[in-house]
Amino acid sequence: MRLPTITILTPEELPITPGRSLDGPDKTIVSDIINAHGFVLFRGYDSASAEDFHAFIQCFDLPNFTYSESFSNAVRHNRTARVFTANEAPPEVEIFLHHEMAQTLSFPGQLFFFCEHAADSGGATPICRSDLALNILEANHPAFTAKLRKLGVRYRNSMPENADLASGQGRSWRHTLNVASIAEAERRLTSLGYEYRWLRDGGLSVQTPILPAIDDFGRGREVFFNQIVAAAAGWANAVDDDEPRLCFGDQTRIESADLKAAIAASYQCTVDLEWQKGDVALLDNLRVMHGRRPFRGSRSILASLCSPISRSAKVI
Ligand SMILES: [Fe+2]
Repeated sequence: MRLPTITILTPEELPITPGRSLDGPDKTIVSDIINAHGFVLFRGYDSASAEDFHAFIQCFDLPNFTYSESFSNAVRHNRTARVFTANEAPPEVEIFLHHEMAQTLSFPGQLFFFCEHAADSGGATPICRSDLALNILEANHPAFTAKLRKLGVRYRNSMPENADLASGQGRSWRHTLNVASIAEAERRLTSLGYEYRWLRDGGLSVQTPILPAIDDFGRGREVFFNQIVAAAAGWANAVDDDEPRLCFGDQTRIESADLKAAIAASYQCTVDLEWQKGDVALLDNLRVMHGRRPFRGSRSILASLCSPISRSAKVI
C-alpha cells in the first residue's frame, strides 16, 4: 500500500519573502512536489497571524476564490480578504475526507491551510491521494466505479434557515446561496439546475444537478473527485428531510456496501498532517482529499482557496 508522502519545505530550501512573488525556478520547486505528491508543507517560515498567512499566499500569484461566492455549506468567518477560518464545527465532530466543494459546479483548484494554533491533542488534517483511492476501489468494486463514470452522482443537503454552528455543514441558505429572499433563492437554484424543497422549519433541502464522480481534468490520471466519502460518512438528514444524501445521476440508490468500500479505500490512502504552529500547507484540490480529525483544546487552522474552476452538470 502506498501512502501519501509529506514533503516539507523550509526557508533554507526555498526562501519566501512576503511582498515578493516567487520566481520561475522557485515556483518549479513547489510545482514539482505538488505534481508528485499532491501537496507540500511549508515549515519554519515566520508566519504567526492571518495577515502573515495572507502575505505568504500572495507570493504564489494564484487567483483568489472567495467564500461568499462559493456554495460551501460550512460555517466560516473571513479574517482577511482571502483568509478565513476553516470549518467551525465543534472539536468532537470529525470532518470526513473530501475534495473541497466537489459537490458544487464551482470549486478551487488549490487551497492553503495555516496553523495559527495547534490543538492540545488530535486535530490533524488527514490527506488522501484520491488517484490511489480510486485505483483500490476500481480493483475491488469495478461495477461501482463503472456506474459512477456512466451515471455520475447527485447530492442532497439541507441548509438551515439560520447558521447552525453545531454542524459541519450548517451554513444558512441565505449565505450559501448569497441571496436575501425565498424568491431569489428559488431563482438562483433553478438557474443552476438544482432541485429544491422548502422544509417545515424554514430550512431548504436541495439536490444538485448530475455531477461527474470521477474525472481526470485533462491531466491523464483519473481521481475520485466527488463528495461521496464525506456525504456517506458524515452528512446527517435534517428533520423533515429523509431522502438519501447521495444517489446516482439517474436517481437510483447507491448500495451501502459500495459507499463503505469508497470510504475504506480513501482512508487506506491517507496520511495525517500533524500541525505545528506556523505551518502552511498547499494542496492540489484536484488530486488530494482532506478532512479534520477530532481534537481537544483550542485549534485554529485558517484556510484560503485559490484558482476557481467551473464545470457544467453532467448529461446522461
Ligand atoms: Fe474542506
